[in-house]
Amino acid sequence: MTESLTEQRTPGLLHLDASHAADSVSKRLAGMFARTWREAGGTGGYRYRDLAADPVPLIGPAYCALGVRVERSGIVGAADVPGYCESGAERREWEHTRPLVAELRAARVLLLGVPMYNFSVPASLKAWIDRVSFPGMFTDPVTGADLLADTTVVAVLARGGGYGPGSPREHCDFQEPYLRAHFGKLGVRADRMHVVAAELTRAGDIPALARFGEQAARSYAAARERVRVLATELAEGVPETVSGSA
Ligand SMILES: Cc1cc2nc3c(=O)[nH]c(=O)nc-3n(C[C@H](O)[C@H](O)[C@H](O)COP(=O)(O)O)c2cc1C
Repeated sequence: MTESLTEQRTPGLLHLDASHAADSVSKRLAGMFARTWREAGGTGGYRYRDLAADPVPLIGPAYCALGVRVERSGIVGAADVPGYCESGAERREWEHTRPLVAELRAARVLLLGVPMYNFSVPASLKAWIDRVSFPGMFTDPVTGADLLADTTVVAVLARGGGYGPGSPREHCDFQEPYLRAHFGKLGVRADRMHVVAAELTRAGDIPALARFGEQAARSYAAARERVRVLATELAEGVPETVSGSA
């Protein structure tokens, strides 16, 4: 028996964007994924959040106090967390957190549009990650099973420079490895974690990157194609066999 949840798992898509840019590459590619997924017959609920325009509140001291108290008790079901709240501030933190946890647990596919900011993910996405990763929320308290074991994550990245194998800045990529490590820790299987990256997006306007124009165009075209194929396959329920970067 699994934990009794108020939310039902639907074959739906939870789509989160995190860019502050008006002409965002990650938003464009993630939007293309969502459109293709629907056109290919992807069913169930579709939920969209623009984490930059409509930010998730940063966690505060009451979130931390509640999280530590819950964590000390082992794996606590979401329905039981209110019983651990000791103040109005903690109850408010939980009210901000619970719907986001429910949304992620209900999604079959989590789609993330992620710009690289200062070698990592934007604060808008990090705020969502900090909040949703409340202790124990993705482990069944009865069986110990990973609740995200059947969830697929598609992270569509955009970065101004190049971070591919052998590039001088390869070691500065704290975006893709971070996302893989984080969702792996939450229980997402490595073969259900797909990363698509458009690189050198600033080649058109930063003089030092101008010579990489063709490479940038190739990277963008490859990312578009990978997004199209992934969205179609996932909408049709084709078994996922490939986990990698475009
Ligand atoms: C605040 C900020 C920080 C950035 N930091 C980096 C960086 O560390 N490395 C990089 O390659 N590009 C960096 N860029 C460029 C973005 O990664 C690039 O413009 C990318 O296309 C952003 O994604 P978006 O088009 O979806 O907004 C930065 C851009 C901004 C606005």
